[in-house]
Amino acid sequence: MKTVVVLGTSRDDSYTLQAVKDHCPFNNYDLVDLRKLNIGYYSYNHNINGADDFTEIAVNMVAADNIIFATPVYWYAMSGVLKVFFDRFSELLSTHKPLGKALKGKTTYLIATGADAALPPGFEVPFKLTSEYFEMSYAGAFYSMTR
Ligand SMILES: Cc1cc2nc3c(=O)[nH]c(=O)nc-3n(C[C@H](O)[C@H](O)[C@H](O)COP(=O)(O)O)c2cc1C
Repeated sequence: MKTVVVLGTSRDDSYTLQAVKDHCPFNNYDLVDLRKLNIGYYSYNHNINGADDFTEIAVNMVAADNIIFATPVYWYAMSGVLKVFFDRFSELLSTHKPLGKALKGKTTYLIATGADAALPPGFEVPFKLTSEYFEMSYAGAFYSMTR
């Protein structure tokens, strides 16, 4: 069983990274810290295609059985770092369609942290629907209140 954790925090001393370490349902996982990589904004022209780290991460996701998205709640939504990465999934429908097809059957999870007592309404929707779009099974969220 291979697990990849895609982390979208904006700092090193991250509460969300700590939540992953404390509560990841799998003992062994590869950590992809998006902030330390080069992920460009999605472009309709695909003019950044192949020029940054997106494709390599997608290949790692395809090689995994479980994909865990880990994000702080920033202004009631996933972090900008993670959203920029999500927008790039559009390339998995066009220039990298075989990679997108190969996501079918994987299981996704969400680990999130925030200062409020619970996740904001609708927070999980992009994770659930994006998973379903690629025919992956969304297994649900773990949420930890920090400060
Ligand atoms: C820009 C920003 C926006 C935030 N917005 C929210 C929010 O809308 N709801 C919430 O519960 N916490 C919010 N917080 C608190 C963080 O979600 C919380 O401290 C989280 O554990 C930080 O994780 P990190 O260390 O990985 O960034 C926000 C923090 C920042 C820096």
